[in-house]
Amino acid sequence: MDSLPCLWWIWLIISITFLAKQETQLLAHNHQKRPTTNVTKHLHFPSFHPSNPELKCLGNAVISEEKGVIQIPHASLKVQPQTYQVGRALYSSHIRLFDPMTLTPASFQTTFSFQFTNSTTNRSGNGLAFVIVPDEFTTGKPGPWLGIVNDACNHYKVFAVEFDTSHDLQFGDPNDDHVGINLGTIVSFKTANSSEASVSLHNHTVVHRVWITYDGYLRWITLHLGIDGDPKPSQPLLSSSLNLSPFLEEYMFVGFSASTGDSSQIHNIFSWNFSSTVPASLPIPSPKICHRNVKHQVSKYSKTGQRAPPSGFLIFVTLLGLCSLAFLGFYFSSQRNKSSSEEAFSRFLERRKRPMLPSKPRKFTFTELYSATQRFSRVYVLASDASGVLYRGTLTNGYHVAVRRFSTRFLGSSSSRFDWVRIKKRIGEITKVVAHPSLPIIRGWCCESGEAMIVYDHYQNGSLDRWLFGLGTLPWTWRFKLIKDIAEALSFLHSKQLAHGNLNTSTIFLDVNYRAVVGDYRLGFFSGESGRDDPVSGMRADVFGFGMLVLEIVTGKKEEEVGDEEVGLLGFVGEMHGKGEMVKVVDERLGDQVNREEASRVLKIGLSCATESCSRPNMNEVFQCLTNAHQ
Ligand SMILES: *[C@@H]1O[C@H](CO)[C@@H](O)[C@H](O)[C@H]1NC(C)=O
Ligand SMILES: *[C@@H]1O[C@H](CO)[C@@H](O)[C@H](O)[C@H]1NC(C)=O
Ligand SMILES: *[C@@H]1O[C@H](CO)[C@@H](O)[C@H](O)[C@H]1NC(C)=O
Ligand SMILES: *[C@@H]1O[C@H](CO)[C@@H](O)[C@H](O)[C@H]1NC(C)=O
Ligand SMILES: *[C@@H]1O[C@H](CO)[C@@H](O)[C@H](O)[C@H]1NC(C)=O
Ligand SMILES: *[C@@H]1O[C@H](CO)[C@@H](O)[C@H](O)[C@H]1NC(C)=O
Repeated sequence: MDSLPCLWWIWLIISITFLAKQETQLLAHNHQKRPTTNVTKHLHFPSFHPSNPELKCLGNAVISEEKGVIQIPHASLKVQPQTYQVGRALYSSHIRLFDPMTLTPASFQTTFSFQFTNSTTNRSGNGLAFVIVPDEFTTGKPGPWLGIVNDACNHYKVFAVEFDTSHDLQFGDPNDDHVGINLGTIVSFKTANSSEASVSLHNHTVVHRVWITYDGYLRWITLHLGIDGDPKPSQPLLSSSLNLSPFLEEYMFVGFSASTGDSSQIHNIFSWNFSSTVPASLPIPSPKICHRNVKHQVSKYSKTGQRAPPSGFLIFVTLLGLCSLAFLGFYFSSQRNKSSSEEAFSRFLERRKRPMLPSKPRKFTFTELYSATQRFSRVYVLASDASGVLYRGTLTNGYHVAVRRFSTRFLGSSSSRFDWVRIKKRIGEITKVVAHPSLPIIRGWCCESGEAMIVYDHYQNGSLDRWLFGLGTLPWTWRFKLIKDIAEALSFLHSKQLAHGNLNTSTIFLDVNYRAVVGDYRLGFFSGESGRDDPVSGMRADVFGFGMLVLEIVTGKKEEEVGDEEVGLLGFVGEMHGKGEMVKVVDERLGDQVNREEASRVLKIGLSCATESCSRPNMNEVFQCLTNAHQ
């Protein structure tokens, strides 16, 4: 009786050792015998047609039917003059450009012919770029950014070759007629003057042609620039060693991006060839593994009706346990001496995880949000105020979120009213009611170890303050549209008897279509805040907040920036209104590109919202008024 368990243990240990060895061998076999192949792609566009679904135009990019060219911006665009426009034209399917197993970038060649037309004499803020980007639905900032990146996307993987006709000293440009290679940023890693290729990008009478060749094995790029129809120049304009791996994802989109700044210039692309090749290793399991899998499937599906005798069942369970132990053993031993190929393999698996939308608001764990925000990194801060900090973050499934983390001081002061049961119920209620494109969805909450957090959807195009007070100038047409979007969202909320409770330029985001999304709403989650207890006063406060937002957006000044502290922005605009000099407070950076009458009308609406509470209009009236202000 005593020796039986002992024997049992010996047998178990022997079996584990044997199975683990087998398993290791099988997997090792799996790693070695991996056939490789080349994944190639060829694109050939002798000209472009609007009906061709292979190209996707974003922003103000268009395919001109009569000319058969891509135009960025659209030559017959309604907005005149064509300043501060941005667009992209991309091949509509993703292309495999990186092998995550061997960390090898693709080799590619591309050639295209292009011409810039209709620029005014003021040569500033425009150009074209050949781009490799991670998505096919966003564009970047206009002006000197060439639509390549925007302020919000510091972690954006992008490769670009720019043909720049503006001299932006802040980006280190050599002159207003150069070619540059950009890696994840607008500041070029390498530049060359076009004149070195005996070409001027400003010459509107010639069609230029560029040839770009990248060797993914040698990690070397060459670029030739010449005139379309002439033979390829013998000397490259740019030639450099370059490792593109950090800037590539397995699948990316290729195409063109262009923008205009203070002056208008149309970027025409006439023809385009692109071809790429990238190695791919195919994991083929050994015949042994296949055989075992088949047996397993048979044992799983063939047992219908009759029950297996208990002894058989026991053996089955034991084997199953042994297998998992063997796997664990293999896992831990491989952890200890992880080879680089295994590392690449796990990275490969990580990459395969595609973003997935959770359907209902759920509870998040503290660790989940801790790692999503890179330990609540400063770099990830979107906004902060007395109640806490708003972070951007990325969940393990790749989904982007904004996380509001309430400060302990704030929670402490409202602790008596801090009731998670009620808050959860409220989140559930609200997500059913709040369905509007200008209001982000609540993804969930976290209440753990004295922390309180709410998780919202996040929008990659960044927050309004960065667009408004950043380096570029947000055009008037956009500002007006954003004001209307915000008014519409608030009018919708108020119609549901809900108050936003936290209006702020740093928590209003721009979605992929540059629609304003009024984020970080509270809707009275905590009774200390406006909303639930007294929706009427909360809504009145929202109208005031909206009025202040309008003043900031039209004047381009932050509340605290305006000279006299006591008077503030509101007092200043009110004073100018009294003097009948409202047009003077409109953001001077807008220059001639603004309808000053329209801007004054909008300012007056803003002022009326920010007056004493009894005469404030409601948001529905404001929205109607704004719709009529546009004539
Ligand atoms: C893949 O392409 C590379 C470079 O062009 C070449 O050296 C290699 O032989 C190709 N591999 C296969 C399997 O065709
Ligand atoms: C340039 O502008 C003029 C008038 O503004 C227009 O007639 C012409 O078609 C434009 N040229 C191109 C190439 O778009
Ligand atoms: C070009 O634009 C800049 C900024 O808008 C302006 O200061 C300058 O006077 C303009 N130059 C010409 C020649 O129009
Ligand atoms: C490029 O042009 C700028 C100004 O036009 C000049 O200062 C610079 O030396 C040129 N660079 C080269 C490499 O020729
Ligand atoms: C434009 O390029 C053509 C061909 O090289 C040349 O004949 C013409 O003089 C150039 N025009 C200007 C304004 O430089
Ligand atoms: C573009 O590709 C096509 C087909 O592969 C080829 O016939 C043509 O010569 C290429 N054009 C250029 C400019 O290389």
